[in-house]
Amino acid sequence: MVDISKTNFIYCGDVRDLLKEYPDNFFDCVVSDVPYKIITGGARVTEEAQEKYGKTDPSGIFNRMVCNDRLKSKWLKQGDADSALLVAEGKLFQHCDIKFEEWLPEVYRVLKDGSHAYFMVNSRNLNELQTKAEAAGFKFMNLLVWVKNNKTPNKYYMQQCEFVLFLRKGFAKNINDMGKGNVFIIPNIIGTKFHPTEKPVELMQEMILQSTQPNEIVLEPFAGSAATCVAAVKCGRRFVAAEIEERFCKIGEDRLQGIAERKKYGIQAGLEADQIQQKLF
Ligand SMILES: C[S@@+](CC[C@H](N)C(=O)[O-])C[C@H]1O[C@@H](n2cnc3c(N)ncnc32)[C@H](O)[C@@H]1O
Repeated sequence: MVDISKTNFIYCGDVRDLLKEYPDNFFDCVVSDVPYKIITGGARVTEEAQEKYGKTDPSGIFNRMVCNDRLKSKWLKQGDADSALLVAEGKLFQHCDIKFEEWLPEVYRVLKDGSHAYFMVNSRNLNELQTKAEAAGFKFMNLLVWVKNNKTPNKYYMQQCEFVLFLRKGFAKNINDMGKGNVFIIPNIIGTKFHPTEKPVELMQEMILQSTQPNEIVLEPFAGSAATCVAAVKCGRRFVAAEIEERFCKIGEDRLQGIAERKKYGIQAGLEADQIQQKLF
């Protein structure tokens, strides 16, 4: 049983169980870095990989079968090997199988009328996310671009940006600073990360500041290492978040208390896809 009068906590479990506890029209905004499988262009899935992971496994450079010998090679630590195996399955972390349509209608329901929604997504999943968000009732507002200071290998132009689908529920409300452009140029986190897809807190702050007032409640259904939660607190907003993987809940709580050390957690959180790829292929 969740006490819905409480805010500033990470529910450690499935977001669908958390949201069941909330009435319609409750949250002031949703800002989320949503889970999806990695699908990148350029490489075939090997027969061996298809046998192991199934023909439905998306084709792409990260989904090539990871050769066991390479995993055993001396410069790969166990944490790297675990990450590499997940990457071989199209995953950067364990729980990225939830389908967009499995959470979008529920997130829509608990949002207030006239509130904004921000969903981070890559180019390959953008179309599906937008289509399913609109089917759930969201209205398209704009496409925002996050330009990073690093590039991920890709045969069809290196990947240097990510996208944010900016949507609304119900009536249209302006953002707080209408002079802002739709491109965020914010450095990515390089090196040890709290989470394989950790996002910069400053990036999440930009969105929260544009679409909420002080003390309002931001929903983050997929907290990871809690970048959105830390951002909400820094902005003087409240938050409610969910995260299914226990180790990330712990990292998030430590970050919120200001006691998380990158050195301690980074290895467990694994390597980023491009780093793994450079090591393996
Ligand atoms: C893209 S990551 C978020 C990373 C985050 N932005 C950060 O900076 O650390 C998405 C997260 O959603 C979590 N997740 C996946 N399915 C979930 C579910 N059904 N309920 C709650 N969390 C879930 C995953 O474990 C993952 O940590």
